[in-house]
Amino acid sequence: MRRDFIGLVLAAGKGTRFKSDRIKLLHPFLGKTMLGFVLDCVRKLAPYKTYVVAGHQKEDIIQEAGRYKAGHIIQEKQLGTGHAVLSAKNIFQAEGDKDLLIINGDLPLLRPQTLKPFLNAHQKQENALTFFSAVLPDPTGFGRVIRPKNGLIRIVEEKDATPEQRRVREANVGIYLARVDDLFEALPLLSNKNKKKEYYLTDIIEVMENMGKKVGVFTSDQTEELIGVNDRFEMAKALSELRKRKIQDLCARGVTVRDPMTTWIDWDVKIGRETTIYPSVVIEGDTRIGRGCAIYPFVHIINCGIGRETRILTSTMIEDSLIGDFAQIGPFTHFRPGTVIKNRAKVGNFVEMKKAVFGRGAKAGHLSYIGDADVGEEVNIGAGTITCNYDGIQKHKTVIEKGVFVGSGSELVAPLRIGKFAYIGAGSTITKDVSPEALAISRKRQSEKPGWSKRKPKKKK
Ligand code: UD1
Ligand code: MG
Repeated sequence: MRRDFIGLVLAAGKGTRFKSDRIKLLHPFLGKTMLGFVLDCVRKLAPYKTYVVAGHQKEDIIQEAGRYKAGHIIQEKQLGTGHAVLSAKNIFQAEGDKDLLIINGDLPLLRPQTLKPFLNAHQKQENALTFFSAVLPDPTGFGRVIRPKNGLIRIVEEKDATPEQRRVREANVGIYLARVDDLFEALPLLSNKNKKKEYYLTDIIEVMENMGKKVGVFTSDQTEELIGVNDRFEMAKALSELRKRKIQDLCARGVTVRDPMTTWIDWDVKIGRETTIYPSVVIEGDTRIGRGCAIYPFVHIINCGIGRETRILTSTMIEDSLIGDFAQIGPFTHFRPGTVIKNRAKVGNFVEMKKAVFGRGAKAGHLSYIGDADVGEEVNIGAGTITCNYDGIQKHKTVIEKGVFVGSGSELVAPLRIGKFAYIGAGSTITKDVSPEALAISRKRQSEKPGWSKRKPKKKK
């Protein structure tokens, strides 16, 4: 049986190299945050409990930690990674027999399967502390693992390293596992006599070895997962890797992604099998797409639910909306928040909807605006229909009952109810409720002047 471990994610630093007002761990990252990815990874290893060390923008960090059911510890002043762990001392007083898994918060690519052998090795070797290293092609910026021929292993931060030490490619990646009682016995002995005047967690290796405690190194070859994201270019690289992973996962589940290079799908998006995603599609947020759908080029979907066998045609933008099964939307359709499209409905070119329920089998093929409306089943909305929902002060509702036929070029001035199976003559401006099954027309009668073109005044030469 494995010993219980507690997760501790270091997230108090500002991330100065990001040059951002927002703390780096909370930058959006495929619909999540960097911190979110790390917390997800820790959670998959079934920790006894997880905490986050918060400092800069702590309210936001605490809130984000809460989303992943993690507790928090406050590090009032950011005096270094060693000091960050020491801030958690009181919380772990009664947990001396457990292990503490400490992870830098800027490792969004880390996967649980990479950490599992590390946890096992630590417990099997009965180490007081094990730290995680990797031999990197370019270790610039990392602390280097120094292994003297005879003497103790240590980590030297790049800023404090000699040119010779900088040539070492074995790097500390910022993941540590230690027995709680041993760790907190050693932590107060850290000093800040270094270039950054910080209490480095990395010095704990030497301190514990000097105390006669057993320290081990676990070296992994999963180098691409172990990149600490310190600036925006590293973020872009990490993002591209996660995007690839997401698309790989979807493909493995039976989704066709025609061009992974131009497709952006947020981490938590769910897509059913036999659905095809064409090039240049962006799908964001909390979106679910059912089986057998087709999402054509240049479609942008944000927080939507889409049923099965539905087609979203080219250049369509839909946000916070629900679309049923066997529907067809687009090309060039825009759904703003609160649109609900029922099964088998068809919405076409240049149709905008907002807060509208659009009934089963209803159609709006061309050039219309439907806002604050309740449209019944099998309704036909002619080209150029507008629900005039706003009087300059308030929004009003339009109800169009089932089977209504709205002729082209109609203006429906809300509040308004059109009874079932009624007809609206093309070009009408409807301002009063229409009874069921009636024909309502409101337009000036056409008049004619016979032979007028012959009599029309001639242009002067
Ligand atoms: C750290 C390691 C370095 C390692 C590298 C791996 C130290 C001293 N150095 O350097 O050996 O190679 O990670 O990516 O640990 N944090 C706090 N409180 C603080 C300072 C930092 O919570 O007072 C948090 C940060 O929010 C961050 C993490 O600790 O999530 C690491 O800090 P960062 O500044 O990124 O350390 P590196 O310079 O990358
Ligand atoms: Mg870092």
